[in-house]
Amino acid sequence: MEYTKSKKYDKKFIMNNMMGPNSIKMLEELLWDIQLKPDMRVIDLGCGKGLTSIFLAKEFGVQVFATDLWITATENYNRFQSLNLENQIIPIYANALEMPYANGFFDAVISVDSYHYFGRDDQYMDAGLALLLKKDGIIVLAIPGLKEDIHDSVPEEMTLYWDAEDIDTWHSCQWWRELLGKSQEIEIESIKEMQGFEECWSDWLLCENEYAISDRAAMEAGAGKYMNLIFILASRK
Ligand SMILES: C[S@@+](CC[C@H](N)C(=O)[O-])C[C@H]1O[C@@H](n2cnc3c(N)ncnc32)[C@H](O)[C@@H]1O
Repeated sequence: MEYTKSKKYDKKFIMNNMMGPNSIKMLEELLWDIQLKPDMRVIDLGCGKGLTSIFLAKEFGVQVFATDLWITATENYNRFQSLNLENQIIPIYANALEMPYANGFFDAVISVDSYHYFGRDDQYMDAGLALLLKKDGIIVLAIPGLKEDIHDSVPEEMTLYWDAEDIDTWHSCQWWRELLGKSQEIEIESIKEMQGFEECWSDWLLCENEYAISDRAAMEAGAGKYMNLIFILASRK
């Protein structure tokens, strides 16, 4: 895959702020056929250190509410300010399960490598997230997942470095289709495997971050053959 937008970004900055598989490449693939417009308000949900928020602001000129639970708003504000993006990206420290936003406020929810932590309850979408969107607003998710659900018999390669809690967050396209298909508030447009699994993971495994180092060991043991990245596109009814 040719990531024409992502490759313009400073490699060292990206490596220093990655928290998993290359999030801006994942986002570039997610938005391949989606045109966000500058007057849109977008939540970047579980934005981590804000790489995807920066990409959304720079590439599409949208207003981004960079929302995260593990990274403080001040840390992200300092990063956005260092890039002169503080007027376009609003850092928010919040739990996705208790969002501080008005219903109907957003044109889009985008979430890369985080929805699987908090979105596995079949009530989550309708009780909270979907309501924040305007009618026809879009939900665009990229999540690490599995080619097939293997929870009945987890392969040994996956248990060497990851615990049951990690493994429990990963599911197949079919599992997500069934879960999100229960929603009364959204229409699923597409759920499919992404193309960028190898490249996005390779970029992450090159990082000297302690999590990347343990993920590297798991991948070297062969865990990657069961895994994928999943693209989900839905819209608010
Ligand atoms: C693996 S990191 C990915 C960060 C970023 N999206 C990226 O790809 O670089 C997962 C992120 O999900 C966020 N997250 C997990 N549970 C959350 C919750 N309940 N509410 C908000 N964010 C959450 C964490 O704060 C963390 O930054």
